[in-house]
Parts: sequence; C-alpha cells; structure tokens
Amino acid sequence: QAPPPDILSPAFAADPYRAYRTMRRDAPLIRHEATGSYLVSRYEDIERVFRDKAQEFTTENYDWQLEPVHGRTILQLGGREHSVRRALVAPAFRGAGLQERFLPVIERNARELVDAFRHTGEADLVEDFATRFPVLVIADMLGLDRADHRRFHGWYTSVIAFLGNLAGDPAVAAAGERTRREFAEYMIPVIRRRRESPGDDLLSVLCAAEVDGVTMSDEDVKAFCSLLLAAGGETTDKALASLFANLLAHPAQLAAVREDRSLIERAFAETLRYTPPVHMIMRQTANPVELTGGTVPAGATVTCLIGSAGRDEERYADPDRFDIFRTDLTTANAFSAAADHLAFALGRHFCVGALLARAEVVAGVNQLLDAMPGLRLADGFVPVEQGVFTRGPAALPVRFTPVNG
Ligand code: HEM
Repeated sequence: QAPPPDILSPAFAADPYRAYRTMRRDAPLIRHEATGSYLVSRYEDIERVFRDKAQEFTTENYDWQLEPVHGRTILQLGGREHSVRRALVAPAFRGAGLQERFLPVIERNARELVDAFRHTGEADLVEDFATRFPVLVIADMLGLDRADHRRFHGWYTSVIAFLGNLAGDPAVAAAGERTRREFAEYMIPVIRRRRESPGDDLLSVLCAAEVDGVTMSDEDVKAFCSLLLAAGGETTDKALASLFANLLAHPAQLAAVREDRSLIERAFAETLRYTPPVHMIMRQTANPVELTGGTVPAGATVTCLIGSAGRDEERYADPDRFDIFRTDLTTANAFSAAADHLAFALGRHFCVGALLARAEVVAGVNQLLDAMPGLRLADGFVPVEQGVFTRGPAALPVRFTPVNG
C-alpha cells in the first residue's frame, strides 16, 4: 500500500480527502516529524480527544499557536478559569442577546453587500460576499468603525496565515506578530473610550461583563476581539463559500433549498461535515494516551484532522457524497447537532459562535437566493479548494438573472 501523502505536500493540498481515506484505513495515528505532532484521522478518536472525558488533553499548544498573535484567550485556558472566562463572553452569542441585538446587524450587512451586485447579473461569491460579510458583522457587533473593515480583513488573514504556518515560514510568523501589535494599537484606545462612555454594542458588553467577581482587563478584551475576528471571520467566510460551491455542484439540492428555505440549516450542517472550514485542531497530551493505532506519549501534540472525521465511513454512510437529505444528519439544527459533525469541535471549547455562524449563514443564503434567480457558476468555471489548515473555494464566480427593485 502506498503511504498517504505528507500533509505539507502539494498532493495533500490538492485532495486531502483522498489522503485522509488512506490514513483512516492504514495509518490512523501518524507521528509527523515536521510539525512534531501525531496526526489523528478517525472520527471516533477525534471525538474522544474533543470530549476529553478523562481529562487527558490540554490546549497548552495554543500558548505557541495563538499567544503570539492574539495574546491570552479562552482557547488557551482550562478548568475553572476557562469556565468563568467563557461565561463572561458566551451570553452575547446565544438566545435573546443574539436575536434582538445582532440579528438586525446581520440582516443589514447581508443586504448591503447583495445590493452592490444584484443588478449586474454576476458576482464572485467569495470576493464580493463571503470574505466581507462575517468581518463586517463582527466589526459592527463590536461597534467598531465600518470604514476600517478592510484593515480587519487584512488582520485576520494574517492571523490565519500564522496559525496555518505548518512549514514555519519566518516571514509569515513575523507578519502575524506585527498584526498583534497593530491590532493592539488600534483596539486599546477604542476599549478605553468605550469604558468611559459605554454604548449598546458588544465591546461595551465585554468591558462591563462580570462573573464571580472576575472582569476582563483591556488586554483581555483586546485578545478576545482578536480571536473573534479570526475565529468568526475566516471560518464563516469559508463555510458560506463551501456551502454555495456544494449546492452549485448539486443543482437539484440547490433548487430544493431555494424552494424550502428551512433546508438552509441542513445545507449548512452537511457542508460542515463534508467540507469543514477548519481542518486541523491541536491538543497537548497530559499523560500517555491510547488511540487507535498506538500510544501517544505525555506532553505530545495531537493534530485532529476534522476534515477526515467528516468522511469517516465508520460514522457516515457513503461519506464522499454531499447530500443535505442524508438520514445520518440527526437534526437540521447545526448547533445542537454536536454529534452530526466535528466542525465546531465538542466539549469544553465547543465553538462559542456556532449560533451566530448559523444566523449569518441563514440570513446570507436567504438574501443571496432572493437576489439571484437562475444562479449558476460562470461558464466553464470549476471551483478549486485552497488551504490545508483552513480550507474553502478560492473563488466562486457566478451568473444570475438580475432582478430590479
Ligand atoms: C471555538 C469552528 C464560527 C468564536 C471553535 C472551535 C472550532 C470552531 C473547531 C474549537 C477550537 C478548539 O477546540 O481548539 C468554527 C466554525 C465556524 C465558527 C467552523 C463557522 C462556520 C465562529 C464565530 C465566532 C466563533 C462566528 C464568533 C464570532 C469562537 C470562539 C471559540 C471557538 C470564541 C473558543 C471557544 C472556547 O475556547 O471555549 N470554533 N467557528 N466561531 N469559536 Fe468558532
């Protein structure tokens, strides 16, 4: 049997799913020298790492992965400290807080972006919508100056490049650290002003948040905002683009979603299984851990290949088929469907922004479908996925029948 291509090779980048299949079958645990980590590819093992029932894993790896670009965020924390710090930020991202405060912001941003191209009959759904929409929403939620949204986009792109810098390119590392400085120079004065005169925005909520006597310092708030831009920007961007790429490749399913908009949530969940935005999440072992294929020693880094988990034939019937009607999607609700896919992780660090992401996708897809009857890919265009750490179509030029009004 040929060994799977190395995760840093062009062959892997071209088609990671093929490599994942070989890994799951022949080498479910691989010691990867260049990244100094153990690659884990089976759903069952990745689920176990995320759920961490026996408290065998930590996120210490984020001290070198995230600290240089963001500072200290909840992703680096564990135990009670994590619980308290997460409780400071989580309420803003669920329930009434999300619906009442931020749904209008989401709707407005989707409408403004769509209005810019709806009369033209053509757009690039990546460039004109997906890459802009989530950053605008977060900047607006935080109450930041909308005129700066291109800078936010530049910052989060540089942070994501830093996180995905598996080959250790020093220029990428230096750019990431520069971003941290620039972002701090921008944000700290804004945070101080907001403490003096709070408004009705997320930044004011974060500045005032208090749980068990614990509050957030200026540096804490800045680090969390930095995490929001990267964790909420890049991911939702890639999810939206992949969702459209998948539907455009399956016209009958696109037609079904256009007809019955309640199917958008299923299309979102199936997209997260089939083509997740984040392909790799790392953990550190606290003690030796037995996984399929061998034992990982204490203090080692484990790379969970989420993109592989979604294609595991032990977990999903016919996993390489995109099908929003598949019966092993247990629920249409991408948030409670923790068991449907591992794209939001599970357990302690389960994505804080999962409901926000879903609200953005529902609003965005609804408005795009309304504005784009007869939606199809530009003639002869074949979407190409890019990226190994995060992944999604590089471009998605489409044509449609322009509607007036
Ligand atoms: C955590 C994926 C959207 C904020 C995570 C994790 C994953 C993930 C895999 C776990 C990381 C780990 O365990 O190491 C996604 C995907 C999204 C998305 C696929 C879109 C489709 C968002 C949005 C926000 C957000 C919109 C907020 C604006 C966060 C935060 C955490 C997190 C703050 C850290 C939670 C903690 O450490 O307790 N996300 N995310 N994410 N996500 Fe998301």
